[in-house]
Amino acid sequence: MYAPARRQTLNADMKENIESILSSSPPDKPRLIHGGNYIKEGRDSAKSTCLIFSPYEEDEVGSLGKYLQLFVKHKVNLLHIESRSSLRRPNNYEFMVDCAPGGNIASVIEALRDQCSYFSIISRNHKDNMNTVPWFPRRIRDLDKFANQILSYGAELDSDHPGFTDPMYRERRKYFADIAYYYKHGQPIPKVEYTAEETATWGVVFKNLTKLYPKYACKEHNHVFPLLIENCGYREDNIPQLEDISNFLKDSTGFTLRPVAGLLSSRDFLAGLAFRVFHSTQYIRHSSKPFYTPEPDICHEILGHVPLFADPSFAQFAQVIGLASLGAPDEYIEKLATCFWFTVEYGICRQNGELKAYGAGLLSSFGELEYCLSGKPELRPFDPPKTALQKYPITEYQPVYYVAENFEDAKEKMMKFAQSIPRKFGVRYDAYTQTISIIDSKQQIEALVNNVNQEVQILMDALRKLHH
Ligand SMILES: [Fe+2]
Repeated sequence: MYAPARRQTLNADMKENIESILSSSPPDKPRLIHGGNYIKEGRDSAKSTCLIFSPYEEDEVGSLGKYLQLFVKHKVNLLHIESRSSLRRPNNYEFMVDCAPGGNIASVIEALRDQCSYFSIISRNHKDNMNTVPWFPRRIRDLDKFANQILSYGAELDSDHPGFTDPMYRERRKYFADIAYYYKHGQPIPKVEYTAEETATWGVVFKNLTKLYPKYACKEHNHVFPLLIENCGYREDNIPQLEDISNFLKDSTGFTLRPVAGLLSSRDFLAGLAFRVFHSTQYIRHSSKPFYTPEPDICHEILGHVPLFADPSFAQFAQVIGLASLGAPDEYIEKLATCFWFTVEYGICRQNGELKAYGAGLLSSFGELEYCLSGKPELRPFDPPKTALQKYPITEYQPVYYVAENFEDAKEKMMKFAQSIPRKFGVRYDAYTQTISIIDSKQQIEALVNNVNQEVQILMDALRKLHH
């Protein structure tokens, strides 16, 4: 949505304005980042309210400064300021301001709404205000904000966790959680030297699961697996590095991995998928129980999930769920998370008249992979409106599995279901800028239709060449 940057908007006077607003909240100082944006990331940034607005007049000089005065007047502290060319109104500008909690933000909103041709609010505190869209990341680097929003830190273990009484294991978990906590978008994922004990645990899991894949895994999983052996160091005596896998996925489908420090909310986890980003753990289960883990670990992520994310059709399917979740009401987040559970985690599909597993929870579970295709559990066709309502256990085998005809069919059904989610705008991922466009104007739709026309012409040209 935020197309070409417009540095000149921030003239000397306005810079002073901005700095005076920002400096009112010590201790961390704002810094100018690329694209002429000011940013001040602190503890508050995850609870911020984001305002997007456009002035009425075309190219009103200094208009941002005028608006910023409203924030000064009502003592609202700013975390991030951005100015861009508007995609909704030609020759118009658009501003995005991230406000810290506190101050009289209601008065700012009231005043801005009257003075702007376009105005929208995106906030984590959406429950307090009916007209507010639940916050969602709009740039890929916004995913950094999830790190301090985790529901529990990955180093905190329950008393029944196999590693609870092992101080060495707990120390390792802290080490992995810290890597993820301090990770920022664009950095390589730190390579980890796994201990001999960790590698041995991996070896047991790897050896036993890979024996089952030819018979039980879907063809996409079996197609990609040899490539992971060849390119990413998948071996019984080596735990592959997330960085190598992420680079492999990026070349295959544009998916990338991000290390995650603990449990994310469903809303945040699904939002990552909209950017083709998968949040992955990096630690491994406790060595005392190689066939059991109460939570996702690296075996689950890279044996179960990763091969599928290298498949173009599956990657699209996962992104459809992610895009549907952006700005959706809470009840729909739960429905989408349930659909995710019965597909990406526990999905079964039909291939050449046979049932095969494609869900990562199955492909990383020695026992359940055989069980789910044993003919014992109940199987139902994947149908999002119905599947979305199914309750499920998280620590035992699933009592029911949902069967997808194929990924394309599952994607079509998910897209239809997504259309039933009440949301006043469309969303689209722009892979060039790695941003989410909020589509809520005719101009944007016209511009997109032009892009589609161009794509169609490329296809028509290629088709003509095929026939000569
Ligand atoms: Fe998973």
